[in-house]
Amino acid sequence: MFKHSHSHDHSHSHSHSHSHSHDHSSHNCDDGDNDGDDDISIDDQDNEDEEETDENEIKHFKTVVEAFFSYRQFANNWAEHMRDYFNERLTDNQRKLLPNYINKLDAMKQAGVGNANFLHRIGAECNQVFQAEKSSSSIPQVGGQDKEQQDSCSPDPKNIDKVKSTLKQFAREWSSEGKTERDATFLPILEKLEQLFPQTDDPLRKRSAIKVYCPGAGLGRLCLEVVSRGFSCQGSEFSYFMLLASSFILNKVSKANEFTIYPFIHQTVNVLRDVDQLRNIKVPDVYPLEMLPKDPDCEFSMVAGDFTKTVQSKHWDVVCTCFFIDTARNIVEYIECLAEMIKDGGYWINFGPLLYHFADHQDSIELSYEQLRHKLSHVCCI
Ligand SMILES: C[S@@+](CC[C@H](N)C(=O)[O-])C[C@H]1O[C@@H](n2cnc3c(N)ncnc32)[C@H](O)[C@@H]1O
Repeated sequence: MFKHSHSHDHSHSHSHSHSHSHDHSSHNCDDGDNDGDDDISIDDQDNEDEEETDENEIKHFKTVVEAFFSYRQFANNWAEHMRDYFNERLTDNQRKLLPNYINKLDAMKQAGVGNANFLHRIGAECNQVFQAEKSSSSIPQVGGQDKEQQDSCSPDPKNIDKVKSTLKQFAREWSSEGKTERDATFLPILEKLEQLFPQTDDPLRKRSAIKVYCPGAGLGRLCLEVVSRGFSCQGSEFSYFMLLASSFILNKVSKANEFTIYPFIHQTVNVLRDVDQLRNIKVPDVYPLEMLPKDPDCEFSMVAGDFTKTVQSKHWDVVCTCFFIDTARNIVEYIECLAEMIKDGGYWINFGPLLYHFADHQDSIELSYEQLRHKLSHVCCI
């Protein structure tokens, strides 16, 4: 089982402080689940701060669990609104022109139920895991113990968007349909890693001794792929939507293709065919436990938090980043953190665009690739 921890056990403070969704050309992954109004700041300087930290963290965690539960109501209302619009706003003649539309809405509603069942499982498992982890304090379960009470959590549109992005991220990372996209983005990183550290029988050069770090790990698939090749790996994520979903998929499934979800139903614009919108995917395409290597020295963990706030000096042999560095407001700070955390003689393997996520907010620095390379040659050996 992979270890899932909270990064405030590091000595630095960290805060979750921004949120927005972004659209990369090939995939859409909502990064960050903290908007200004529900920032959680984590600071480990003394016990009082730590208590406050825990309280904020629990509050935020509950909001996310609640969002997973509340999807059921959201999806139902959404389908019903569309039905109402069709029945009440279109003329009889217009409705006659669209004889299959109601069937499609029925199918969408059913698909929403499928998604809701899956998301409920994630919320319910995480409710329990967190409860067990923090057993010393009494934290009421989100929505109580009862499934109906849990599903009556009312949807918050901002968080529902993040739940929808999480569903789409499942398609990218954990379905056979996402394989082409994964092969295009994860494989170049994995191949480079294997090329740098070829398999050997020499016990002194075991891959498990190589510490690989993947900040912005999303749903953890790249980390699992790294570990399955024999390396030790830690992922980090500051979105609790991603963290809860990855914890579920890595620890709680019992076989490949266990769940059927419909990640594309909410995409109602630019749809070529109804079947595209309604198509289901099975997750996970692999059984994660089967992919773990036999070597007991091989470590695998995921930590929560902003990676810039948990820098361990000269700690990692390799840092792998995929579709990540452009999540920075200040990419120079990201580069400095990477340079600080990588051991002398270590490596940074990066893949992804420079679609700076904060470019529209006018409070970020957006370097060209050329400028970035120049900056890199000053900060790291390249
Ligand atoms: C575009 S997604 C990419 C996810 C995954 N690497 C992939 O290739 O599919 C970027 C991820 O980085 C996370 N993230 C953004 N800034 C972060 C930070 N400072 N520390 C840790 N995670 C961060 C976001 O929550 C999001 O899940």
